[in-house]
Amino acid sequence: MIRVLSSDLAVIGQSLIKSLDQKVSAPCRGNLAALTDSGLGNLLALQVIMSRRLHARRVEGVDKNIWVEFTQLAADYKVVNLGQGFPDFSPPKYIQDAFCKAVSSGCPMYQYTRGFGHPPLVKILAKFFSRIVGREIDPFDDILVTVGAYQALYCTFQALVDEGDEVIIVEPFFDCYQPMVKMAGGKAVYVPLRPRAEGGKTVSSGDWTLSAEELSSKITPHTKAVVINTPNNPLGKVYKTEELQMIADLCIKHDMVCITDEVYEWLTYDGAKHVKIASLPGMWERTITIGSAGKTFSATGLKVGWAIGSGRVMKHLKIIHQNSVYHTATAAQVLLLTNNILQLFS
Ligand SMILES: Cc1ncc(COP(=O)(O)O)c(C=O)c1O
Repeated sequence: MIRVLSSDLAVIGQSLIKSLDQKVSAPCRGNLAALTDSGLGNLLALQVIMSRRLHARRVEGVDKNIWVEFTQLAADYKVVNLGQGFPDFSPPKYIQDAFCKAVSSGCPMYQYTRGFGHPPLVKILAKFFSRIVGREIDPFDDILVTVGAYQALYCTFQALVDEGDEVIIVEPFFDCYQPMVKMAGGKAVYVPLRPRAEGGKTVSSGDWTLSAEELSSKITPHTKAVVINTPNNPLGKVYKTEELQMIADLCIKHDMVCITDEVYEWLTYDGAKHVKIASLPGMWERTITIGSAGKTFSATGLKVGWAIGSGRVMKHLKIIHQNSVYHTATAAQVLLLTNNILQLFS
């Protein structure tokens, strides 16, 4: 490999052309000139190693992605992909019907809509979640519709985590929290859920608990946020009210934000009740609740999610959103309004 600086390229190109020019016929000279104008620079650029660091430091150490690896392995070996959480059956018929209806509803479906969420959708989400959180949610201030829960998480970490901030992540956790914290300049600090094994009985997801002492021991003056995921992926654990209260008390005591990933809020079993930490006293102002329509309706490719929280917090997430994707596909948002789909869960 020849080492050349990009600034040297023009000079190298010109002398190469000069020497070739003397040896070729007139028609070839024309082609050579065209090649010089268009392709030769690119050709030479392939040989260039830039002398300065090309990548931003934020991409260092976050290049491996388990889903990219799993999906490729599953494709290479033609095996069932048990790594990524998506069904291999069609979503319910009402979702398919709603999608057809949404995409055939004319021109506006194919155009931009309000960046922070299609107005009728944020209105219905606000009404729906106001009942659950037990307070009036403002559709325009308190809700941000995102490209799946992934982007809601991304906006949250980018908007709230600064260089040097520590973010406590409860283990086991969904893989993207850690790289997202790192890309925002923060430091991930881990605290585990631990299985309580009593008398040799089979451990269920509910037996995995978070110790208040252990969580407290991780808090420092740099701790900005705690990330929980309830119901938890991969355990299936649904946090009980008293566990959430313990986390809430520490968040309030140490002035921390709570980021709660609730994409599986409707997948609870054996009578377990999902409780939103945002509904506990004093938590609304410091909690960002993240949801996903894709998970809720077994249609992961839909990529419609949301972040809900106090307008005071959400205005910062909106800045990241408006300067990254700007908005979520209009038709995918409209789908959720069709046939009163969201009402199915009320
Ligand atoms: C816990 C958790 N959070 C967030 C996501 C991402 O959700 P979405 O597909 O809506 O971006 C997933 C996807 O598997 C998940 O399991």
